[in-house]
Amino acid sequence: MSLKRFLWRLPKIIRNWHWFFIQNLPNKTGKWLRARWAKKYFGSVGKNLNLHEGFAIQNPDQCFVGENVIIARGCHFNAGGGLIIKDYVGFGPGVKVWTVNHKIDNLDVPIPLQGSEYGKVIIEEGAWIAANAIILPNPKRDIVIGKGAVIGAGSVLAKSVPPYSICMGNPARVIGFRDKLKKDQTSQTGSGTEEKEE
Ligand SMILES: CC(C)(COP(=O)(O)OP(=O)(O)OC[C@H]1O[C@@H](n2cnc3c(N)ncnc32)[C@H](O)[C@@H]1OP(=O)(O)O)[C@@H](O)C(=O)NCCC(=O)NCCS
Repeated sequence: MSLKRFLWRLPKIIRNWHWFFIQNLPNKTGKWLRARWAKKYFGSVGKNLNLHEGFAIQNPDQCFVGENVIIARGCHFNAGGGLIIKDYVGFGPGVKVWTVNHKIDNLDVPIPLQGSEYGKVIIEEGAWIAANAIILPNPKRDIVIGKGAVIGAGSVLAKSVPPYSICMGNPARVIGFRDKLKKDQTSQTGSGTEEKEE
């Protein structure tokens, strides 16, 4: 690598080494340092970001995060096409959010040489993306996960979904709505509010 190129890449190299040392630090110190890192390198971050161990991100400057967002262990985001996460969104462990695709339409050029296409992902307020779900981009239109929607564990979502919907499977489909669930649960007992580790 030439000196000029090295100097041009230096901020990114510093950013990556900084992340390497704090990525898996446990407890409150780790969370505090990761939130500070995000404040410096994300597009923007609201207060109370709860960023757990093992998080990975490409293009953090294109990631815009609201307030009181929880990102559990081992999530991986590529924000190159724009990733907007509104207030009170929760990500379960191992969630992947992709906003970049390889182009694949030219049969004469190897896929890694065809370049990329981008699609924005917008996750509205209070949505919950459960463990190991994968959110994919669509270069033709934004993917919008509606306010308060739930994306079930292990789902592969490639379409927008409406507010308060419950979606699951591969490909993920809307199987119901949270407000309907509430009406159906009139006889249910137990508060289920005790705090346990995620
Ligand atoms: C999305 C979720 C909340 C839905 O819960 P629910 O509305 O109570 O749904 P139910 O358990 O009544 O299941 C409804 C149907 O969907 C199926 N189902 C439930 N979750 C599913 C999932 N993630 N993927 C595919 N199918 C699923 C059930 O088998 C059931 O099928 P059936 O109608 O054929 O019997 C829950 O299934 C889930 O994915 N939880 C995530 C847990 C997690 O990630 N925890 C980490 C902490 S952040």
